[in-house]
Amino acid sequence: MKKIAIFASGSGSNAQNIIEYFNGNRNVIVDSLWSNNENAYALIRAERLGVETFTFSRDEFYHSIDILDELTDRKIDMIVLAGFLWLVPRYLTEEFPIINIHPALLPKYGGKGMYGHFVHEAVVKNKEKSSGITIHYVNEKYDEGNIIFQANCDVEKSDTPDDVAQKIHLLEHEHFPRVIEEVLYQGQD
Ligand code: GAR
Repeated sequence: MKKIAIFASGSGSNAQNIIEYFNGNRNVIVDSLWSNNENAYALIRAERLGVETFTFSRDEFYHSIDILDELTDRKIDMIVLAGFLWLVPRYLTEEFPIINIHPALLPKYGGKGMYGHFVHEAVVKNKEKSSGITIHYVNEKYDEGNIIFQANCDVEKSDTPDDVAQKIHLLEHEHFPRVIEEVLYQGQD
């Protein structure tokens, strides 16, 4: 049995999709959902699906090891970032395999400030013909860990950033849970 903790800052459609994918699975359990944003809709989605939730402040995240202690007590095997926007500190990257989903084809459109809608706005502004998703390991720099999986979608001339966001979310929902499952059982390279 492998245990996942999901970290999410916003709407949480990926978090919900992951929880639903593993619901009833005897090998993988979504143990808890963690957020830096007490208004994150991700918290409501998780609670509705019976997953325990935790919120934390910047101070707790960067200047204490309370979160590490709790994750260790809960015997978490992997942290999954699903729309989590803070840089993850070293005390966590050293302790757990952590994977993130990014809404672009890294190394393009990555780095600080490149998240969510800002990515899709930049893609449309630059008249890209395609975009996609990247699932990667997390280290202490934004979007620079080893890439595990990428998938592409076309960007039409008429696409708005919202249209691109919709295509990206479809790709994320299709691939992220399956890739998490594969990584859990193959271990980090
Ligand atoms: C997702 O598109 C995810 O790739 C992105 O935030 C969105 C969260 O959507 N993450 C980043 O931009 C991280 N740099 P959700 O809250 O509906 O899952």
